Amino acid sequence: MCGIIGILGNHEVSPQLVDALRRLEYRGYDSAGVATVDDRGRLDRRRAVGKLVNLSDRLVHEPLRGHAGIGHTRWATHGAATEANAHPHRHGRVAVVHNGIIENFRELRDELIAAGIRPQSQTDTETVALLTGQHMDAGLPPVEAARTALARLQGAFALAFLFEGETDLMVVARKGSPLAIGHGDGEMFVGSDAVALAPFTDRITYLEDGDHAVLTRAGALIYDRDGHQVGRPQNRIDVGATAIDKGGYRHFMAKEIAEQPVVIGDVLNHYIKGDRIVLPEGLDFTSVDRISLVGCGTAHLAGHVAKYWFEQLAGLPCDIDVASEFRYREPPLSPESWFIAISQSGETADTLAALDYARAHVARTVGLVNVGTSAIARDADIALPTLAGIEVSVASSKAFTCQLTVLAILALKAAHDRGRLDDAALAGHLADLRSIPGLLQQALNLSEDCRALSEWLSQAQDVLYLGRGALFPVALEGALKLKELSYIHAEGYASGELKHGPIALIDRDVPVIVLAPHDGLFDKTISNMQEVMARHGQILLLSDPEGIASGSDGVHATLRMPAGGGLFQPILYAIPMQYLAYHTAVAKGTDVDQPRNLAKSVTVE
Ligand code: F6R
Repeated sequence: MCGIIGILGNHEVSPQLVDALRRLEYRGYDSAGVATVDDRGRLDRRRAVGKLVNLSDRLVHEPLRGHAGIGHTRWATHGAATEANAHPHRHGRVAVVHNGIIENFRELRDELIAAGIRPQSQTDTETVALLTGQHMDAGLPPVEAARTALARLQGAFALAFLFEGETDLMVVARKGSPLAIGHGDGEMFVGSDAVALAPFTDRITYLEDGDHAVLTRAGALIYDRDGHQVGRPQNRIDVGATAIDKGGYRHFMAKEIAEQPVVIGDVLNHYIKGDRIVLPEGLDFTSVDRISLVGCGTAHLAGHVAKYWFEQLAGLPCDIDVASEFRYREPPLSPESWFIAISQSGETADTLAALDYARAHVARTVGLVNVGTSAIARDADIALPTLAGIEVSVASSKAFTCQLTVLAILALKAAHDRGRLDDAALAGHLADLRSIPGLLQQALNLSEDCRALSEWLSQAQDVLYLGRGALFPVALEGALKLKELSYIHAEGYASGELKHGPIALIDRDVPVIVLAPHDGLFDKTISNMQEVMARHGQILLLSDPEGIASGSDGVHATLRMPAGGGLFQPILYAIPMQYLAYHTAVAKGTDVDQPRNLAKSVTVE
């Protein structure tokens, strides 16, 4: 999703802006641009479609001077990825960069056109520049002009304004979309996240919803939604935790897959001490009557796995929903229930809105987030870090398994609190969880087998994934990973659903990937596999050694999963889902870390 950077510095700013934009690349983008004010107060901009290298090439041939500037990576919402639609947008003496959606832009645009102002792009953002420029032309000073424009905006935005003639001034604002101010020594910075600001400063202030700020090199004056000047805390961020580095791997995704045994070990060490689960105060499940688990994409699928655990282990009814549906459905929620928002970024607009709805209706809200400083972490009653470390690849891998691990711990805590597990039974499940990092390490050895299978998968037009019980959502996740990384159409189904429709798709060209550990449901899944093979379907069976020994007759290929892990095997089966998608994408030559059309942090709905 769009990334914003702004600098009031003491050096030539355009190389710094491009460098910071490079750190925001992981959010996904299709064009980029920068604007600067030079020492004589002249405002100018450069924009380019495609990768950042196109913008930096442009700047080599047409340099931009100045110590004050703003920059942007654009993920198109309104209008195609063209130079005219790229940010910064400029009108007269103001340039603007924006992340979010201005919902009333059509109305504003019509007004501006009626006033004789001609938009140059198809974007919603340009209306902000047009409005502000219009007010400046009418005589308002820059800060007042920006404020007057801000008052008209509906929707979600993080905005930075830069003004002609002002070498030491920037106005920034946020509503819905994240924005962080960085404090330097005689320099000020603003960015979509702390990652972008990490090379400049470790002192960060997060703006709250509705805030705007007036920045000069001397500091930031912050105003709340009512226009009152307010103080917002400065936080020290761990710059080491924002390191963006492939660590010798070809792609961030490969690195992040390989990190899973370590980061899951970190999660276990954080939340489990001996045979005790240690959670923040207030997480006692004794009198909870229901749980709602909500997220988007992969995070939603983590919740879907957890539904099985909460219900089976704790006997706790559990609803699972995608945030974009939950937020508008107005679901009736019991006042004794809890709501758990799951999000890697902690900024996903739909999940944030679902959390806002739930806060008014339930006994407790919990945010399961990887980015501890995010809006969901701040807004939930209790934030539980998922401790995956920074995830750069747009497609989620380690964040998913860390979410699963925290959710498994919560389900065990719920089962213990509610008397469904005694101390000994809890200790048994905790031992299973503790075995997961070692088993993940074994599962990582499947990379080469997955690479070999990717030759076959990369030829397919369609791929089906089947699973039962808690492996069903993992099948959904496998299909999602393959779609987003390799652009091959893939669907996940509950194995038992096959004969209710999807079986019509089966022929010898459709690979069917079956997730079937040798458990109580194994024989049923083997029967479903027979139905596929009777129709010449080509099966890839993922099972443990016992399952492979008893169920692999007639299959196209097998992947031998480690046995063990008890109820928490879904965490293990995530690994081959990731590797199959990763290697198939590499075989097809797609952009693994930044798949087309996707964004890492989806801050618009
Ligand atoms: C898929 C993927 C997305 C995200 C989804 C939610 O690989 O990464 O489906 O899971 O956009 O994002 P967060 O977890 O940041 O709320």
